Amino acid sequence: MLEEALAYARQNRERFLSELMEVLTIPSISTDPDHAPDMQRAAEWMSAQLVSMGMNNVQVLETGGHPVVYGEWLGAGAAAPTVMVYGHYDVQPPDPLELWSTPPFEPAVRGDDLFARGSADMKGQVVASFKAVESMVRTGRLPVNIKWLIEGEEEIGSENLDSFIKGHQELLACDFCLNTDAGILAPDEPSITTGLRGLAYFELRVHGPTKDLHSGLFGGIVHNPAQVLADLIAGMHGAGGKVTLPGFYDKVRKLSAKERKELARLPLSRKLFLKQTGAPALWGEPNFTPAERLGTRPTLEVNGLLSGFTGPGSKTVLPAWAMAKISCRLVPDQTVAQTNRQMRAYLTKHAPKDVRWELKYLHGADAALVSSSSPWIQAMSDAMRDVWGKKPHFLREGGSIGVVAQLQKRLGVDSVLSGFALPDCDAHSPDEKLHLPTWYKGIEALIRFFHHLK
Ligand code: BES
Ligand code: MN
Repeated sequence: MLEEALAYARQNRERFLSELMEVLTIPSISTDPDHAPDMQRAAEWMSAQLVSMGMNNVQVLETGGHPVVYGEWLGAGAAAPTVMVYGHYDVQPPDPLELWSTPPFEPAVRGDDLFARGSADMKGQVVASFKAVESMVRTGRLPVNIKWLIEGEEEIGSENLDSFIKGHQELLACDFCLNTDAGILAPDEPSITTGLRGLAYFELRVHGPTKDLHSGLFGGIVHNPAQVLADLIAGMHGAGGKVTLPGFYDKVRKLSAKERKELARLPLSRKLFLKQTGAPALWGEPNFTPAERLGTRPTLEVNGLLSGFTGPGSKTVLPAWAMAKISCRLVPDQTVAQTNRQMRAYLTKHAPKDVRWELKYLHGADAALVSSSSPWIQAMSDAMRDVWGKKPHFLREGGSIGVVAQLQKRLGVDSVLSGFALPDCDAHSPDEKLHLPTWYKGIEALIRFFHHLK
């Protein structure tokens, strides 16, 4: 039965790829209200796939935001495990467009890679799980029950998903969740993720005069909001790259010697990070290695800045306002609510009285750690060993996926965090790409994973 499913997947590679390319043409950008119709189209594409592979009870369900796609196949019987397979059909905005070699929603294969927004993060991973299950259903029997949960708000913090899960506990009841929104370390370095950082995302605005002013007529008598914003941001980091929000590190769990030893074994050198980022040097808390900093330490990042005159040439102006998008990556046991309070406390203390500031909390996701000793993780580890010929590394990732902590909290269910994106896939960046040889291996690994579960 396993061999037949693997053969089916190999024989149908080209069709799998062309179906993936089809869904990659839909600009399902969850953060942009203009793309609401595309969100609906992407959800419908997902549900049509589920129907065509023989899933039952397929539904596009409304949430407070973008819809959730559900489907199930419960034919393995009550004695077999029930796996929730999670995915998201939304993507991040593709800008800056001029840096793409080919347009973000016109998927193009060049060499071993498929270029498109969402190819790696994560339509490619969703389609890989569809195709693994299709290969098993079409060639005989699927040994486990499956419930699909495919959302459209992962890239904006999955906030409506939490109440959706709360309201559909019976429908979603399962033994564990397979979440393929993570990745592996390299084409020849399989890995399983055991931790994710959380996130708290803010928009900070500083307001001064009622409109942009002549900087000669008024400069020196009115506090410049761009200057104030820059001062506030500069103060958010202190010596040794530490974040200065009051109490920021209070709840951060200390790393044990054993954890540090495990992280040190990962093939993650400074040289590799320099190559991946193209930055002239690495930066961060000096007492932690890069792998420790990414997986286990919280951060504060400025995602974007806007103020005043930024066009070609010059204009002597004192801007009326300045804006920054700022987010914190969180680790256990920090919470989004605490971070929100800490950010407000910092601003209350440090913002000068001669401007008005406004902090909007946009969205957040809690950090999560998952057990690395479950039979489900063992099944994934065995599947990866079968495909790559070596056991996977276990690592803690710096990215965030809201659903993982939500499932722990609402359903008491753990996740197997795998997926086959690569660190150099340029997720969220121009020229995002999916490494196709790894994608085909991933489909095979997923088939073997489902097979090992029975
Ligand atoms: N797939 C990523 C998260 C990820 C990246 C996990 C690399 C493991 C390894 C996910 O789609 C993502 O980008 N999430 C956002 C969530 C945020 C907006 C709440 C993120 O991390 O920025
Ligand atoms: Mn993402």
